Amino acid sequence: MMSLPRPLKDASVVITGASSGIGEELTKQFAARGYSLILVARRVDKLEILAATLRQKYQVEVNLRPCDLADRDERAQLRKELEKIDVSILCNNAGFATFGRLHELDADREREETEVNVVAVQDLTLAVLPKMIQRKSGAILIVGSTSGHQPTPANATYAATKAFANSFAESLHSELNGTGVTCTLLAPGPTITEFNEVAGISKIDGMGGSLVWVTAKRVATEAIRGMECNRRIVIPGLVAQAQTLGGRYTPRIILLPILKQIFLRLKA
Ligand SMILES: NC(=O)c1ccc[n+]([C@@H]2O[C@H](COP(=O)([O-])OP(=O)(O)OC[C@H]3O[C@@H](n4cnc5c(N)ncnc54)[C@H](OP(=O)(O)O)[C@@H]3O)[C@@H](O)[C@H]2O)c1
Repeated sequence: MMSLPRPLKDASVVITGASSGIGEELTKQFAARGYSLILVARRVDKLEILAATLRQKYQVEVNLRPCDLADRDERAQLRKELEKIDVSILCNNAGFATFGRLHELDADREREETEVNVVAVQDLTLAVLPKMIQRKSGAILIVGSTSGHQPTPANATYAATKAFANSFAESLHSELNGTGVTCTLLAPGPTITEFNEVAGISKIDGMGGSLVWVTAKRVATEAIRGMECNRRIVIPGLVAQAQTLGGRYTPRIILLPILKQIFLRLKA
């Protein structure tokens, strides 16, 4: 079954975290397919450069909507705007991670992580879903992670936020069956983006080579293909698929000490 709504001038694709990595690639690929776009992120300069390129290359409409998704007031304003317009596709992609023992991490940054990775995902989905259901058309992508399949010491907040994203997306996928609206979970493993730099662990970038690391371009391609086929979950790459199985089925008593050893070393 082909599930993506067709490109329409007055029904946009909203992509959060469009200023880099997976979100930037999703943006390029939806633009190439002729969709009108609304791009959300904090770094307007990056969004402007991307938008100018895409307008010229594909003659698509690209609107910028700068927003700090961790800020409740800014997010509420965005949510109200989205409630009023027709959104054909929502990609809940913005997110970041923190690594280290919880009590040693910056408490405000941990709170922001939950706001962006969890509350914003629920907030924006709640904003667009009623109109999608009314129109019997729409698609939602939620970017979770392999990190959401198991608890992870020294990455506690991130793993918990992605457990929310993974669970929320899979529940919605099933709940929306038959409504004309779809929801797909994208749960990648290690992907080459700015993610590790933002998290302060860029020394692991590329470690293990191309067997371990997939490109943001591939992740976005597989995500959109998955949305087209109304897939419940998209996991790009063999390593991410192995991580998923390990995370889901290895007894916690074995898994937690191993992960603790690995994750405590990431930042050192
Ligand atoms: N890379 C990986 O290995 C990996 C693996 C599994 C899952 N993921 C998930 O994939 C998604 C995309 O990450 P990425 O790998 O592409 O990382 P990235 O290159 O660092 O991109 C993250 C995006 O999120 C946006 N963002 C962060 N905080 C924000 C805030 N407060 N308000 C608005 N936007 C915010 C950033 O935009 P601004 O900084 O301009 O605001 C940026 O566009 C995330 O949800 C991440 O958890 C990544």
